Amino acid sequence: MKNTKTLGEELSLYVQAALHDAFPEMIPNDFEATVVKTADSRNGDYQCNDAMALSKILRKAPREIANAIVETLEKPDRKPEMVSSLEIAGPGFINFRLNSEWIADRLLAIEDDAFRGVPQVGAEKTVVIDYSSPNVAKPMHIGHIRSTVIGNALDRLHRFCGFRVLSDNHLGDWGTQFGLIILGYRHFVDQKALEASPVQELERVYVESYQKSKEDESWLDQARKELVKLQQGDEENLALWKKFVALSMGEFDKIYERLDVRFDLTRGESFYNEDLPGVLTRLDEAGLLVESDGAMVVDLEAEKLGVCIVRKTDGGFNYATTDLATVFSRVREFEPETILYVTDERQQRHFRQFFTVCEKLGEGVNLEHVWFGLMRLPEGTFSTRQGNVIKLEVLLDEAERRALEIVQSSSPDLPEAQQRDVARAVGIGALKYADLSQNPQSLVTFTWDKAMALDGNSAPYLQYAHARIRSVLDKHAAQFPDDTLEGAIPVCTLDLEKGLGLKVAQFPEAVLGATKHYRPNYLADYLYELAQQYSTYHQSVPFLKSEDGVRESRMRLIRMVADTLKTGLGLLGIEAPERI
Ligand code: ARG
Repeated sequence: MKNTKTLGEELSLYVQAALHDAFPEMIPNDFEATVVKTADSRNGDYQCNDAMALSKILRKAPREIANAIVETLEKPDRKPEMVSSLEIAGPGFINFRLNSEWIADRLLAIEDDAFRGVPQVGAEKTVVIDYSSPNVAKPMHIGHIRSTVIGNALDRLHRFCGFRVLSDNHLGDWGTQFGLIILGYRHFVDQKALEASPVQELERVYVESYQKSKEDESWLDQARKELVKLQQGDEENLALWKKFVALSMGEFDKIYERLDVRFDLTRGESFYNEDLPGVLTRLDEAGLLVESDGAMVVDLEAEKLGVCIVRKTDGGFNYATTDLATVFSRVREFEPETILYVTDERQQRHFRQFFTVCEKLGEGVNLEHVWFGLMRLPEGTFSTRQGNVIKLEVLLDEAERRALEIVQSSSPDLPEAQQRDVARAVGIGALKYADLSQNPQSLVTFTWDKAMALDGNSAPYLQYAHARIRSVLDKHAAQFPDDTLEGAIPVCTLDLEKGLGLKVAQFPEAVLGATKHYRPNYLADYLYELAQQYSTYHQSVPFLKSEDGVRESRMRLIRMVADTLKTGLGLLGIEAPERI
């Protein structure tokens, strides 16, 4: 499929042309017609509201404009093949109904396309996605987990739209805490505990060392010395630091593996260490650096963002300094059009600050902070430690255990190893989907019931719908070995069929919307609606008992529904097993 457009875009082009025909030289050059999906199918499949917006410009009543558009589009040689009927409603809305045969053709084209009709809007564009980014020697908290799940979905979505994606796990692997950790480690690490649970033990060491520094001035002093030694490249301290990084990465990697997340780059903050003095030089040259109480800052008062500290009074560099160095390095090396940062909402100010500094420096890159709220975990949902720190392993195990129960009751005849495989896909999928199906910025409360619901907006529901279609197709193949689906056309004769076919043809719109707005939940919503529509269809028409010809067409249509569900779930990082 070359130069694909979404259905809405195609219709918009027709309206655009009709407008220019009906009102020669009266339509402003920058005016772009817009045709969008209707919210309610009783009003047609697509709708255009441009007549209202143009009324002022053309000094004509909206209905008159709508009439002119419809008349132009209805001329015998002009009528777009994709449209079956046009209708004007209310003050001047134009409602479009699409032609079923045209939809069937479109479905065939989508099936032949490696990207299922999704326009490759990212071709020749690079996007860096900075996500997950936990801190060394500290456990991942729920914010890192959400960042991992949401960031990974954005990563997959962008690749599917043709972008060159560089995913970068920007580890917090450098900073003043390492003085305290090194000192604490030397004095009171418990080797056994370190082996059993490295990150937990390193964190304990850090907390104890930190507490001691509050009470004991000389301890704080020693910690500072250890830090300076580390920064100057002292071999012993460097070796310890590397050990901490490796131990932490070992644990993080286990989580990434279970979540099926891979990064192109894992460049921690330490990677940019040598670039930090250069950041100050550049700010100074741009006339942006000022002193404030012994610290060096960029004044952002005019932007109502306070000051951005780039060097502290003690001479140490800051989080923002590292982020500036990171932008410069990424721009130089990868020439991205956009850099996305996926973190929780608490860092909004930090990102606004250094984005503004980049703008002042004239860095020609689009910087976007994709933030999300914290998820609420009701007491007793799973073992929680204080605040938002949870043991992810425990959570994942629990999800798989609950999923196994579902699988054992739905597929008791499946060999156990396979049941476990499916349970893994369902359990992990349920957790990811519980996160991805929400507006990231709203406060959500996680509950197992909702995440695992077989009858609600959950991964198991979608996976179940997918597996159910595969099983219909298997039965069909067994019962009608001579039927070939390849020659069949996914006819959309009945209203239900047409609706389902149209929904499948709208997959590109859902993917583009989710990608463009950094909202995986748009795709989740779409998949849920598709599964619901399928379910109604499944209950309303016979499949294997339908007559020759019709049967193949139906099989072909539902196979496309299954493929769409599978691809869509895949873009959310969720597997769709053949059976559940
Ligand atoms: N390590 C940080 C944290 O845990 C997140 C880093 C996000 N990325 C960035 N470039 N600042 O809060």
